[in-house]
Amino acid sequence: MQLAVIGAGYVGLVTAAVFADLGNKVMVVEIDGEKIEKLKQGEVHFYEPGIKELIQKHIITKNLQFTGDYKEAMWGVEFVFICVGTPTKNKKADLSYVYSAAKSVAENLKSPAIVVIKSTVPPGTNIELEKWMRKFTKCNISLASVPEFLREGKALEDSLHPHRIVIGAEKKKVVNKLLALHEKLPGERVICNCASAQMIKYASNAFLPTKISFANSVSVLCDKFGANVEDVMRGVGLDKRIGPDFLSAGLGYGGSCFPKDVAALISLSKDVGYTFDILQAVEKTNKKQISYFVKKVFKRCGGSVKGKTLTVLGLSFKPGTSDMREARSFYIIKKLRREGAKIKATDPVAISEAKKVIKGVKFCEDPYEALSGANALLLVTEWEEYQKLDFDKIKKLMHNLVVIDGRNFFDRKKLEKLGFTYEGIGK
Ligand code: UDX
Repeated sequence: MQLAVIGAGYVGLVTAAVFADLGNKVMVVEIDGEKIEKLKQGEVHFYEPGIKELIQKHIITKNLQFTGDYKEAMWGVEFVFICVGTPTKNKKADLSYVYSAAKSVAENLKSPAIVVIKSTVPPGTNIELEKWMRKFTKCNISLASVPEFLREGKALEDSLHPHRIVIGAEKKKVVNKLLALHEKLPGERVICNCASAQMIKYASNAFLPTKISFANSVSVLCDKFGANVEDVMRGVGLDKRIGPDFLSAGLGYGGSCFPKDVAALISLSKDVGYTFDILQAVEKTNKKQISYFVKKVFKRCGGSVKGKTLTVLGLSFKPGTSDMREARSFYIIKKLRREGAKIKATDPVAISEAKKVIKGVKFCEDPYEALSGANALLLVTEWEEYQKLDFDKIKKLMHNLVVIDGRNFFDRKKLEKLGFTYEGIGK
């Protein structure tokens, strides 16, 4: 089948590469000429395991092409996937890129097409968007919503082996065509109207943060009552009705989706006269967890961090990515610097991204260099490679043997045996 994907961002490129891999002819439209030129050479402007290789493979098979020209992409197209960004503006999803892309699609269509919204948009957006597109075309268009549920670092795995494929459309014919397009992919199918599909996306991206904030609140109580949050959440998660995932207590959630979508759903609720109390508490708890961690740093630094050298291990919002969006490290470092701490920081891949947003910090590629002379080690992002750190060596480098573990990542017993003071979250 012939597809056009609008937007060569994270979602767009993954979508395009996967449909090309399933044997379709896919044309990606991107307005940034520089990006297009790089993509044509098989160069990808972000890191995601496997994506570059898949794109390069399908440039050769000619299943995947790139253009800046809507006219070229709309020629004979059966499906158009809108995958442009919906950033937050005044706590709401900014739909200007979606509308602008939809207009260009409509103006250049030559034959009937199904226009699929992959971007995360408020439920009901399709009704206004369809009216808007009809102003610019006489072709028969049908709108549908097929949300993505990709995790950064696991985007290809999530796309090729999805647990569910949500197809939101108003017409049976459109549903059937979309079912056929996704035929080779596994996973349960959820067929619903567009508004439900869009609500599924928001509700999913709000429910997972709810689980995280819940676990974080329990972690505070665990600290008070001498319980261990890891044991507690394991015990809780073994109940099949609850499930074990997204119950890891720590520093809370960051990234490009959860904070944005939680805020958007709170705001959407307000717009229709409803206060989404649970989500407001989820957001508040997520912020509080940072202050909770910082308090622990104060406690372990003798009540003040002024003039102390604190080493932050891990900067990106989670391991496996250089993405700094809503990274917990940003807020923690800001608070500690304000209190007069000297910060040294390290990360396996995110230093250059971090430098763009965090100032006044000494960045070190080498974790041992970062830890030299430190009064405390602050584990912020749980990169697997930090498990291999040689704490015998670190013992000789640090000024004070203090570890404050924001992700319950290190082995307390091992560190205490070596003479370190260890502070985790809820354990
Ligand atoms: C998330 C969703 O998982 C994905 O389905 C959606 O499409 C986009 O948003 P992503 O942002 O890549 O994906 O990261 P994810 O792995 O879900 O983690 C999000 C944040 O939650 C991270 O900051 C992580 O550290 C935190 N987290 C996750 C916890 O604090 N505890 C947990 O138990 C799980």
